[in-house]
Amino acid sequence: MQLLLIGLCIGAAVCGYALYAQNGLSKPIPHVVILLGPPGSGKGTQAVRLSKELALPHISTGDLFRENMSQNSPLGQEAKSYIEAGKLVPDSLVLKMLFDRVKRPDSLQGYLLDGFPRTLAQAEALEQMLPPSTKLTVLELDVPDHLIVERIAGRLSCAQCGNVHHRLFSPPSIADRCDKCGGVLTQRRDDQAHVVEERLRVYHEQTKPLVDFYSKKGILQRVDGTKSPDEVFRSLQSKL
Ligand code: AP5
Ligand code: MG
Repeated sequence: MQLLLIGLCIGAAVCGYALYAQNGLSKPIPHVVILLGPPGSGKGTQAVRLSKELALPHISTGDLFRENMSQNSPLGQEAKSYIEAGKLVPDSLVLKMLFDRVKRPDSLQGYLLDGFPRTLAQAEALEQMLPPSTKLTVLELDVPDHLIVERIAGRLSCAQCGNVHHRLFSPPSIADRCDKCGGVLTQRRDDQAHVVEERLRVYHEQTKPLVDFYSKKGILQRVDGTKSPDEVFRSLQSKL
C-alpha cells in the first residue's frame, strides 16, 4: 500500500511537471544585463533605475570593493592600493568576489552588472560560469572623455548608502547631504583628477576591447550617454 502511494505521488509529480512545461510555464530564463562604459559614464546612475524596472539585483563590483574597504576586510585591504591608483583590481580577486555574490538566492532569475566585466579574461570567465540558457544583454553607455572629467569632478557620493549626486547636474536638496538617506556626501578618493586620468587610460586599454568582443556576438546595444539621465534611461529601456 505504501509503495502504491509513493508510486502515485511520483506519477502525479511527473505529469504535473510535463503539463507545466508544455504550457510554457517552465522555469523562467535568467536574464543577465551588463552595463558597459567608461568611468563616470552613468553606469551607477542608470543601474539603480534599471534594477527597479527589471526587478533584478544591481551588482556593482566597485560598490562591493568600497564596502569591503570601509569594513577594512582582507579583500578591502588588498583592493585599496589598486583602486586608489586608478588601476584594475587583479582578475582573481574580482572573480572570486563576483561569483560569491551571484550565488545568492536573489540572483537566481538574473542580475544587472555594473563595472563587470572589465577585461577579456573576466568576460570569458563570466561566459563559462553562466548557464547556457541565460539571456545576456550588453548595454554600452557612450560618453566622450572630456565629459567624463566634468562629471567625475562634480560627483558627490554618499558614504552611507552609495547614492550619487552631482554638484551641477544632480545637486542634493540640502548641501552635502544625501537626498536618499541624509548621509554625508563626499568625493571618492579615486575621483581626484590624476587618478581619473589613469582610470580612463586603463578603460581604453583593457575594457574598451569588450565592445568589440560583445559586438561580434551580436548582443551589444549602444546608447548615447551624453543626454540627460531621463533621456538615457528611456534609450536603455527601448533596447531591452
Ligand atoms: P567603479 O566603482 O565601477 O567605477 P567606474 O567604472 O570608474 O565608474 P564610476 O562609478 O566612476 O562611474 P559610473 O559610470 O557609475 O557613473 P555615475 O553613475 O556615478 O570602480 C572603481 C574601481 O574599482 C575601479 O577603478 C577598479 O580599480 C575597481 N574595480 C571595479 N570593478 C572592477 C573589475 N571588474 N575589475 C577590476 N577592477 C575593478 O555618474 C558619474 C557622475 O555623473 C555622477 O555625479 C552623476 O550624478 C553624473 N551623471 C550620471 N549620468 C549623467 C547624465 N546623463 N548627465 C549628467 N550627469 C550625469
Ligand atoms: Mg559607479
